[in-house]
Amino acid sequence: FFRAAASPPSSNFLLLGPSGSGKTAFTTLLEAKSSPASKKIQLTHTSQTSTLVSVSLPPSVPTGSNRYRSVNDPSLKEATRNPIRYFVKDTPGHGKLRTSQGIGELQAMAISKENKNKIRGVIFMVDTAALVDEGNLRDTATYLHDVLLVLQKRELNKTSTKRSSEIPVLVAANKQDLFTALPPGSVREKLEAEIDRIRKSKTKGLMDASADSGLDAEEDILGNDDAQGVFNFKALEDETGVKVEVVGGAVKSDSEEEFGSGVLRWEEWIGMCL
Ligand code: GTP
Ligand code: MG
Repeated sequence: FFRAAASPPSSNFLLLGPSGSGKTAFTTLLEAKSSPASKKIQLTHTSQTSTLVSVSLPPSVPTGSNRYRSVNDPSLKEATRNPIRYFVKDTPGHGKLRTSQGIGELQAMAISKENKNKIRGVIFMVDTAALVDEGNLRDTATYLHDVLLVLQKRELNKTSTKRSSEIPVLVAANKQDLFTALPPGSVREKLEAEIDRIRKSKTKGLMDASADSGLDAEEDILGNDDAQGVFNFKALEDETGVKVEVVGGAVKSDSEEEFGSGVLRWEEWIGMCL
């Protein structure tokens, strides 16, 4: 009879992306925005473990279930008094910790049936000033490819009777404040082209391997492998149901701007998932 007091299901967002892309800086900013008393961005350092933080959505940001919340709406007052809270899990992006922590968390959350661990979305953070470097681009695209493959497998293994909700991906094109940053459109193109290369070399490798072993390698290939065209996020969505959106932003924005406004469009994406 204590059932009524059970904690409400929480909404979790998993924060992934390579080392140095700004995940911890973003998490820290969200925390600072959630508690106006501490409007100070702390210095970050390379993360070695995952951390879960509870933050709140700015009252002005609409949610998916309350899409048309307007300034005159009484629900805005209610949202100011009682903001919508969600959880963000910051993971370490270092190559050696990625598989066990980032991808590991994603796999665990993706199959979890418990409401408590329900994952609403994945935020994949990218340093858009670092993508001009070939090695960085390859590393970033490889990580994103592996993330999308986990989500694709989850979609394809869904049984029609027991539909679990979808897990969309936000590619947060961070560091748009830097003049060397690539705009979100080219970030998208570069990632798509690089994932295409990764996919093709992987397909070839798996074909060779399955010719030897007789195993079916198809489900380990991202996207539809009989599509002759190049990989792109739109085709991935059409073929597998995995949604990817690329949105620009900056954790560090110019001082004249309103505090934390550089991440507002990502918070809007988060809001639409809630
Ligand atoms: P790992 O923990 O190693 O996975 O890295 P991380 O993704 O947590 O990166 P972190 O948040 O530690 O940020 C790395 C560096 O990028 C820090 O020096 C941040 O201050 C800086 N940084 C983060 N966001 C921005 C941004 O929008 N613009 C600029 N110019 N720098 C940023
Ligand atoms: Mg970190």
